Amino acid sequence: MEKNILVTGGAGYIGSHTVLQLLLGGYATAVVDNLDNSSPVAIRRVKELAGDHGRFLTFHQIDLRDKPALERLFSRTKFDAVIHFAGLKAVGESVEKPLLYYNNNLFGTITLLEVMAAHGCKNLVFSSSATVYGWPKVVPCTEEFPLSAVNPYGRTKLCIEDICRDVQHADPEWRIILLRYFNPVGTHPSGHIGEDPCGIPNNLMPYIQQVAVGRLPHLQVYGTDYNTKDGTGVRDYIHVVDLADGHISALQKLDDPKIGCEVYNLGTGKGTTVLEMVAAFEKASGKKIPLVMAGRRPGDAEIVYASTEKAERELKWKAKYGIEEMCRDQWSWASKNPYGYGSPPDTSQS
Ligand code: NAD
Ligand code: UFG
Repeated sequence: MEKNILVTGGAGYIGSHTVLQLLLGGYATAVVDNLDNSSPVAIRRVKELAGDHGRFLTFHQIDLRDKPALERLFSRTKFDAVIHFAGLKAVGESVEKPLLYYNNNLFGTITLLEVMAAHGCKNLVFSSSATVYGWPKVVPCTEEFPLSAVNPYGRTKLCIEDICRDVQHADPEWRIILLRYFNPVGTHPSGHIGEDPCGIPNNLMPYIQQVAVGRLPHLQVYGTDYNTKDGTGVRDYIHVVDLADGHISALQKLDDPKIGCEVYNLGTGKGTTVLEMVAAFEKASGKKIPLVMAGRRPGDAEIVYASTEKAERELKWKAKYGIEEMCRDQWSWASKNPYGYGSPPDTSQS
């Protein structure tokens, strides 16, 4: 075994894909997750997909804010590094319930950092987001762009980035990489693990997927009057397996004693409109996605995509997959698991 990695939020969408890539890459991996927004089935499937490597995966159902439980885990096991995914991520919910978001995301992170420091584990990779670029005035977004938060979720990301910078500044033994993800979509090509949002999805791809399997009647296209090639919003969609691999590159970069606290975008550098994404999904699935053209969604940016130069140069990482593969794999997951990790609702009584 190469190294022992703790993954917080490892039962979730991006976390489960990263855990699989870690195991396949020869890392021993411990997952901490409170299963608030995920299923233990994801962990079971990751173990199966990892084959022989699956025996190096352990799962601990712990809330990050439960300091004594985290302390016990760190006392039992020496971790070489932590990849920190655990957090709440629904923008709309964060506007309605800001204290829930500040409590979970900030206290969870602070508790984790305190326990790591106490146990001499000072290597961290943190899941930040392109949301910290707010509404960018120009594209592509480079890591040097001014930062701003446009909702409480985004503010937790900005605040955690600042906390990480302060912690590393105060104690240079820390090595921290902040990864700003653009729009993760797609699933592992097996279609056995994927994204399983609770309730009605907020994000484009899970929504399209639920329309394709007949759970929702149509997709509302939010905004058709943007200054883009077809009037719909442009985003940088990145295959979740590419994103997961970006974390392995970041872990390797933590071996550099001069890293300090560094930030990298993880995107493809390519912009795709909503209608282009719908067309690619229709082609991959053979399903028609009925559309309803709607007004702009409040708070949405017009065009967001990444500059990928810094990650390519310094992490030696570059996304391999395009929207065809993203849609192909998303459909593989959707068609095999139309109700995600759960079962269809029982309608026999109604
Ligand atoms: P997810 O909800 O699928 O996974 C997050 C996991 O963290 C879940 O399994 C949840 O149960 C767990 N969790 C939440 N709070 C916890 C706590 N206090 N203690 C222990 N476990 C806790 O989300 P995801 O899409 O996999 O996102 C992972 C990370 O990446 C998040 O921090 C998110 O903000 C960030 N991110 C996601 C996106 C995206 O579009 N999916 C984009 C940018 C950044
Ligand atoms: N869209 C629709 N209909 C829908 C959902 C989305 O037309 O039902 C459009 C949006 O208007 C936008 C595009 O599809 O133009 C992408 O929307 P998403 O909600 O999938 O993604 P966002 O870029 O708006 O935001 C997501 C996360 C943020 C995160 C950001 C960057 O929700 O938290 O990606 O990582 F910050």
